[in-house]
Amino acid sequence: MIQIAPSILSFDHSRLAEAVASLAQAGADWIHFDVMDGQFVPPITFGDGLVKNLRDKVPTRFEVHLMTETPERHFEAFIAAGCTRVIFHVEASAHPHRLAQSLRAREVEAGVAINPGTSVEALEPLLDVLDLALVMTVNPGWGGQKFIESTLAKVETLRRWRPELAIEVDGGIDPSSLPRAQRAGADVFVVGNHLAKAPDLSSAMRELKGLCV
Ligand code: DX5
Ligand code: ZN
Repeated sequence: MIQIAPSILSFDHSRLAEAVASLAQAGADWIHFDVMDGQFVPPITFGDGLVKNLRDKVPTRFEVHLMTETPERHFEAFIAAGCTRVIFHVEASAHPHRLAQSLRAREVEAGVAINPGTSVEALEPLLDVLDLALVMTVNPGWGGQKFIESTLAKVETLRRWRPELAIEVDGGIDPSSLPRAQRAGADVFVVGNHLAKAPDLSSAMRELKGLCV
């Protein structure tokens, strides 16, 4: 069963309550929050206050994608704000196994992301403590970039290693790239720009969900 996790990054930030309500209405499985600190990636986006303000607008589950250095500094705040899945980057910590364990100990799902320039082997020692692996299909930092085809080999490897693992892809996902990512083994799809610019959110979401085989 595929899941769609729309990212609010490319939506009008002055109208995010409406955006999450429309995404929930259209059948989003998760709302994906892209947190950038101006260090791990150049841009800065938003903090836990925004997530907290949106939490009671929809019943949809929230996940945070921390593109930050020392991600563990932010775990508590985003969990308190209502995120039930926390994803941090393997490149941002010398102790990703311990950090993933600490998320599970807080009773949220633990996700670890890898950049296009990071080998999939970086995730192999973490598999026993992961609820989700996020394979970046663009370089993190900006919405609306072109999908990087070569990242799919990593999805294939992860799927071979762990038939049951949730594998998320993030970046450049649209009706053309989604089926290729799904064939490689991905089952959770972050979609930002494609939905933000869709004239009709419900039909765009239906189209994405209809692509699943
Ligand atoms: C990129 C973010 C993504 C991004 C996806 O740094 O992690 O979640 O918003 O957006 P699109 O679908 O526009 O590539
Ligand atoms: Zn993301």
